[in-house]
This record gives sequence, C-alpha cells and structure tokens, in this order.
Amino acid sequence: MFNKRIKIKTLLQSEPAGQEVTVMGWVRTFRNNQFIALNDGSTNANLQVVLELGAFDETTLKRLTTSASVKVTGTVIPSLGKGQKLEVKATSLEVLGDSDAEKYPLQPKKHSLEFLRENAHLRFRTNTFGSVFRLRHALAFAVHKFYNEKGFVYMHTPIITASDAEGAGEMFRVTTLPFDETPRNEDGTVNFKEDFFGRSTNLTVSGQLEGELGATAFGEIYTFGPTFRAENSNTARHLAEFWMIEPEMAFYDLEDNMNLAEEFIKYIIQYAMDNNREDLEFLAQRLQEEEKSLPQDKRSEMGLIEKLEFVLNNAFERLTYTEAIEILRESNHNKKKKFQYPITGWGMDLQSEHERYLVEKHFKKPVILTNYPKEIKAFYMRQNDDGKTVAAMDILAPGIGEIVGGSQREERMEKLLARMEEMHIPAEELWWYLDTRRFGTVPHAGFGLGFERMVQFVTGMGNIRDVIAFPRTPKTAEF
Ligand code: 4AD
Ligand code: MG
Repeated sequence: MFNKRIKIKTLLQSEPAGQEVTVMGWVRTFRNNQFIALNDGSTNANLQVVLELGAFDETTLKRLTTSASVKVTGTVIPSLGKGQKLEVKATSLEVLGDSDAEKYPLQPKKHSLEFLRENAHLRFRTNTFGSVFRLRHALAFAVHKFYNEKGFVYMHTPIITASDAEGAGEMFRVTTLPFDETPRNEDGTVNFKEDFFGRSTNLTVSGQLEGELGATAFGEIYTFGPTFRAENSNTARHLAEFWMIEPEMAFYDLEDNMNLAEEFIKYIIQYAMDNNREDLEFLAQRLQEEEKSLPQDKRSEMGLIEKLEFVLNNAFERLTYTEAIEILRESNHNKKKKFQYPITGWGMDLQSEHERYLVEKHFKKPVILTNYPKEIKAFYMRQNDDGKTVAAMDILAPGIGEIVGGSQREERMEKLLARMEEMHIPAEELWWYLDTRRFGTVPHAGFGLGFERMVQFVTGMGNIRDVIAFPRTPKTAEF
C-alpha cells in the first residue's frame, strides 16, 4: 500500500512527541538546502520539513524545486521556528515527480487573479484558490446537509431537455446534426426528426419544471446541478455554465418560501464559519490587502467575517417591488442622475446598479423584493389579485446583487394556461408539466440559488470566474 500518510492539516493539530509520520505533497519553497515548506492541499499552512545538512545527496536536493512532489518520512518534533508548533525531521525523502523550475508558471510570489485565471489548471496550488475551493466544497456539503436534515429529496433533473424552463430563450442547442449538410424540411427549416432525439433539444437553463413534478409527489425536493445560459453577459456575476440549487416545495406560499431561503442562506454561511474558519480568515486578510489600493469610499465598510456575522445576526429586509421603486425614485442618487439607467417608473426591470443601491446604500443588508410586475417575470409565477403583479421574490446580497430568484407557482390551471398563451409558451409541449395542475394541484413554491454567487459572497471574491474551477464565459472555454 502506497498511501499511508497523514494529512498536513491533521498533523499540524497534533502534538510533537517524536512520533514517526509520512507526509506527501508539493514543495512550495526550499531554502538553505535545509527547509522544505510542504503543502498537500488540506490547508494553506505549510509543513516545515527539515533536512539535516549532509544527510541527503546533492542530486536529490537539486530536485526540490517549487511544485515538485515529494514523499517524506520523519519524526515530529517541536519547532523552534516562528508561527509553527511542530516540524518534521526527515529520515527519508523521495521525489515523486520533478517540476522544472524554469517552466513552472507559478513562482513563489504574488500573482494577479487575471494571470491565475489563464493558469486555472494550476491555480488550486495557490493559497487564495486553496481557500476558495475548500470553501466551495464546504458550502456544497452544507447545502446537502441542510436539505437532508429537513427531509427534502435530492432530485437529479435532466441536463439535456426539450423545454425552456425560464421562457427566456437563452439556450445552448444540443444536436448531432451535421453543420454542412443539415437535413431540411421542404419549407427550408431544419428537420430535427433526423436529430439524435428526433426533436430539437438544448442544455437546461433550470431544473425547476421537473422539480415541480417531484415536489407534487414527495412534498419537498431540491436539485443541485449545472445549468447553462447562452446570455452574452460579460460581467463579474455571469457564467454560461453555473451551478444552481433549486428547492421546490408543495404546501408553501410566498412567505414560507422566503423563510426557507433565508434560513438556508444563513445555515450554509454558519457551516462555513464553523468549519472553515482558517480559510475565511485568510480570504478576509486577502480582501483587506486588495482593498488597500482602492480609494476609501470604494472599500468595504466591513471585513469579510464581520459581514458574514452581520448577515447571520440580522433579518433580511423584506419589501415589495413597488416600495423599492419608490425608494429608488426618491433617492438622491436618482435625482442627481447617477444611475446609468434612470428610474423611469413602475414596471421597469431593475438593473444590478439599482439592486446594489438598495442593499449597499439604502438598507445595508440583504433584501428580499417581492411581488414584481408580471411582465418582467416568468410564466409560471402565481398571479396576484391586483392583476398586475406576481408572487415573485428575489434576494439581493451586498456586493453581489441578485443571489436568489423564486416565486410561489401558479397552481390554478386556467390562470396558468391564460398566462402561457399571452407569453406564447406552447402548452402542448409542456403537457407533462401541466399534469401537475390537472391531478391534485396544490399551492407550491420554490427558488433558485446561484451557487457561484453564493460562493462569491462567502469568499469575498469579486469575479465569478474565480469561484468555479473552469469558468465558461463568452469566448472562453479553455481547460
Ligand atoms: O432568477 P433565475 O433565472 O431563476 C430561475 O432559474 C428559476 N427557475 C429558479 C427557481 O425558481 N427554481 O436564476 C436563479 C439564480 C439567480 O438568482 C442567480 O443567483 C443565478 O441563478 N444565476 C446565475 N449565476 C451565474 N451566472 C448566470 N448567468 C446566472 N443566471 C442566474
Ligand atoms: Mg432572476
């Protein structure tokens, strides 16, 4: 057996008592022909490995370059060095894989996030990305823990579908048809009967519609999977491939939905605070350093951990879209024409600058906006009695903007059909969805949390490309 090793994180928590251990990892630095700073990805803290002078041959020592992989066996002794309780005095040392120092792209110094994005295949080996991706893992785990504890069923909805759940038409087509000799119908349109599925298909934009089928059988379900949007948005908040968590619950109204969403967000933040403190502290420090170069008014008012604690300890502000429009219209920001998109009045869609004004300047905390005009929301949202609004809810987070989108669903068949017709959503194609309303329809609700935006919020990373391993954005699909 090869893998009989202790992880550095575990080792660093133990007492140095002369015990023998084997560690494996990648060299971060090697100095004075004596001290290896070894990292194995379990923590940002490196293990100091001490090589007794003269105990190892020169050729081996020369191979201890940055990112070379090594296996070390030795004894754990108290360290005299600063900032570490223990070190390993090597009795044997094996280089598992060389790393050509001339060619290795990451030097033991600070690199820009842009540079690291171009080297996304290696960036996990840096402290920043080590922390970000361990936190991403922790948050994903907490998502499952939360819903499992509440008795929700985890449902895997399809990646390839024939429907456009959001009705927004921003889909990636899936096809096996040849480009050059595309089979055509007599009228010149593409003959999808010849395609793999015998019809036109695309990558899913949301698992919601299938999720509703689950909710109306199991009561409460959630999905957690990749979703795809071919929207040409080159921003720090948009990806073409992102992960979404979509809970869907029978017997919930809009208020139940908001309560669940708020509890959920707080739960996963708390989980990260309890289990990944070290990584959060590292990222808090990083953010503070990064913001030093900004003018005072562009810096965050709170540190990362302070911000998370604040979110945990305060109720989200809840107000209607109509109230939000009033606040925005009356704001000095609007009167001084500082919005790129001025507040024209009720009915307009909110831009992210408006959302961020509400959370960052006005309320200074997460905000849940409800009851949006039906014209700017999806067909499945429950129509309110005023005839103008739907029972929608969006959660807006400081520094991010929209992090959750959801609603109570229209459970009344006639109302749903009428809205679909108005919006040119073909009812015959969604016959299976409509069956939920035909056979034992119930009040139900759900929402979608954009996982990367959540990871951004918790890690304080400004660009969404830095919280997903291999970002997919317009004109980039490297790695
Ligand atoms: O508001 P959206 O489009 O809602 C839905 O898809 C519903 N079917 C959800 C539901 O009710 N079950 O997307 C939900 C969330 C947004 O609030 C945002 O956090 C995230 O998904 N999101 C994106 N994240 C990254 N890149 C993109 N292009 C995103 N589009 C949406
Ligand atoms: Mg939305």
